[in-house]
Formats: sequence, structure tokens, C-alpha cells
Amino acid sequence: MDRDLSLNLARVTEAAALSGAKFLGKGDKNAADGAAVDAMRRMFDTVHINGTVVIGEGEIDEAPMLYIGEKIGLQMETDDPVDIAVDPIDGTTAIANGMNNSIAVVALAPKGCLLHAPDVYMNKIACGPKAKGRIKLEAPVAENIKNVAEALNKNVEDITVSLLNRDRHKKLIEEIRATGARIKMISDGDIVTALSTCFEHSGVDMIMGIGGAPEGVIAAAALKCMGGDFQGKLMYYDDAQKKRCEELHSDLEKIYTIEDLVKGNEVLFAATGISSGDLLEGVRFIGEDMAKTQTLVLRLPSGTVRFIDSVHNLKQKPEYAK
Ligand code: FBP
Repeated sequence: MDRDLSLNLARVTEAAALSGAKFLGKGDKNAADGAAVDAMRRMFDTVHINGTVVIGEGEIDEAPMLYIGEKIGLQMETDDPVDIAVDPIDGTTAIANGMNNSIAVVALAPKGCLLHAPDVYMNKIACGPKAKGRIKLEAPVAENIKNVAEALNKNVEDITVSLLNRDRHKKLIEEIRATGARIKMISDGDIVTALSTCFEHSGVDMIMGIGGAPEGVIAAAALKCMGGDFQGKLMYYDDAQKKRCEELHSDLEKIYTIEDLVKGNEVLFAATGISSGDLLEGVRFIGEDMAKTQTLVLRLPSGTVRFIDSVHNLKQKPEYAK
């Protein structure tokens, strides 16, 4: 894959972030998502890829754009076919409530390399590169925390585990507390928290718990680029989710490793902050006609981690003006 594609992916997530950020704190998550989807789709139309959405906004009858199976990009025959996973806003509720940790995100890999995860839940565990190989989803919570602590040369009491603040995590929280480790609860946005495990300054050493399966695949793509680790198991909570798993012939017994979720040696990833979090600054509108964004861009073949700070002149991009 052309390495310059990564800059175009940054343009795609910047466009979604600028559009979604206008709805920060406005209480309307659907409007925010719609604006981000539309902007992301339009920017993809300018990019030299022969892409198919494998993780997106839903099925064709549920989503007008960025639906699963939709062809996106310039679709030239000379461009290699690629799978694309998109989340124009991870953290729609956070945007609506003016809270932190929401991002616009895409991952891209050669056709057949990203797991076509159904829109169900996934039990997840992830850590950064220093602890790679030391996490096992089926192992007891205490064992995983002890192994990560050993790998990071820390005491268990100094390990921070991040997880979504949800009732379903009551038992998990008790098990983590029993080890003496710290817990960092998040209200939304477990993709960016999984990535945080690869950055020491984030203060997050590992993530555990149940979140969205599509978000799991996207997080695994980024963790793979940075040498981190991830395991996940699909789970459903209602009949509709069970049906989706059956339709996609999903294996509900399997513990998916990072290599099962994201195959091969070519992955590109970009994420732009919409509202500020531990890793990425959110969109900042300055005066009438300027906006700043921060984007993380990753490329597996080189392992380069780029933070791109952009200043957008909204006089020349009126569609993003507040
Ligand atoms: P959305 O932006 O689609 O609402 O996802 C936000 C999110 O917090 C994800 O990061 C996470 O994986 C998922 O929701 C958890 O689902 P739930 O809110 O149902 O617990």
C-alpha cells in the first residue's frame, strides 16, 4: 500500500472530527454522527483507494453512508483493493454531553485482513508493547495484572486498568480492586483508551472489560502498528445480536488474538481527537475562521507513530465553520 495514503487518512479523520465537533455539548448524538459520517464519506471520495467498508455504520438498510459493503474511494482499477474500518465518532454520547475521549477513526488493510466483526459486544484485554505476550483473556484477572506488572517492572498496586463505567463490570471491578491495582473508569470511547496503553505518559497500563466488537477490531489495528497486544471474545446480549452473529457465522467460543483480528503486515490507522482525552487534543475552534486538530497516524510496515497538529483555515473550508 502506498505509504502516502496515511496523510490522506489523516485528512479523512480530520474532516469527520471538524464536522462532529460542532455538536459538542449540544445533546444531539445523531446530528453529530450524521455530520461526521457525511464529512468522512466526502473526503474518502477524493482518496486513491479501491476500498470496501467492512466495519462501518451498519447494514445497507440501516445506514445511508459508510454501510458495510459500501465501495469507497476513487475505485481506480490500478489501486489495490483494501478493507476499511471506520468509526466517524467513537463516543457519540460523549460528544452530545460535552465530555472527553471522543475520536474520529479509520483503519485500513489489504482486502481480507480485517475481521468482519458483527455489531455486538466483545470482552477485551489489551496492553502496550512492553507487556506483549503477557495477557490472556481466559486467565484470572489477578494473573493478567501480575504478569503485566512484571513486564512493566512495576508493583501491582501501581498498575492502572482502564474500563468502561458500566454495571456489567461490577464483578470485574471487584476482582481488580482485590489485587490492589488502580482503576480508571471511562464513560465512553474504549478505542482511544486501548491505544493509551502504548504511551507511558497516558498512565493507562492495560484495558479490560466489555465494549463494542467493531471498536475492538479498530483498536487491535492500532495496537498491532505499535507492537501492543489485544485479545477479544465476541458476546451478544439480545436476540438481534445473536442473529447478527449467526448471519456472519461468527465463532462465539473463539478467543481472537491480535493476529486473528488484523492479519498481515500492512495496516494504516488514523484517529483525530474530537473532544480532548488523555492521548489526543480535541478540535479547538479559534475565532471565526480557524480550527486546530490533533491526529495520530500509524503505519505498520515502518512502525512510525506520528502526531499531526493541523491548523485549518476555515475561510478556505467553509463547510467546517462553526
Ligand atoms: P458509540 O460512539 O458508537 O456510542 O460508541 C461508544 C462506546 O463507548 C465505544 O467506545 C464502546 O466500545 C461502546 O460504546 C460500549 O458500548 P455500550 O455503551 O453499549 O456499553
